[in-house]
Amino acid sequence: MIREVIVTTVDRSGQAHMAPLGLIEDGEGWIIAPFLPSATHDNLLESSVAVANYTDDARIFAGLITGRRDWPLVPATKISVPRLADALAHAELKVAHFKADAERPRFHCKILHKEQHAPFEGVNRAANAVVECAILLTRLHMLPRDKIDLEIAYLAIAVEKTAGPREKEAWSWLMQKREAYYAGN
Ligand SMILES: Cc1cc2nc3c(=O)[nH]c(=O)nc-3n(C[C@H](O)[C@H](O)[C@H](O)COP(=O)(O)O)c2cc1C
Repeated sequence: MIREVIVTTVDRSGQAHMAPLGLIEDGEGWIIAPFLPSATHDNLLESSVAVANYTDDARIFAGLITGRRDWPLVPATKISVPRLADALAHAELKVAHFKADAERPRFHCKILHKEQHAPFEGVNRAANAVVECAILLTRLHMLPRDKIDLEIAYLAIAVEKTAGPREKEAWSWLMQKREAYYAGN
């Protein structure tokens, strides 16, 4: 089981970094598996702690992969890595075991602390479509354009039918990124 979350970490100077990542279930804990090169990887090697932020705000997933990095953060409870202010819930993670790999190292993390901040109010198909599309757009250089266009056309149906303002804004950022990429390639 993989859960898509926003991982926060800090660098040596205490500067926060956010990245959408799929956490892999690992018994009671989670595995963070960033492809190299990765700032999350470098920060985790340095500090061994991270926050998994659980959010239904699709703008944060779309924003982070389109250069919009200014999402409000607040201090976490037990570790000195901030969490997303608007997370529905978060988990504070500590690396228990590291498996080095030249391509995709794995940080096996245990959960130090969990907190709920707001209720989860149900699945929105447009928000899910935004997350799917955000993943697709991180693979533009690896996938044929036909496949990207076909998948986006399908995902757009859920956005047209079920999006609210947040999902519409997130979708527009993703479509701008796609257009900019193909204009230059
Ligand atoms: C929903 C979602 C899930 C992702 N999961 C992963 C992942 O598990 N591993 C990874 O390396 N990149 C993943 N990515 C891409 C990263 O977010 C992106 O490459 C990011 O810049 C990570 O690099 P960083 O640690 O340098 O920020 C995902 C992107 C999205 C939108």
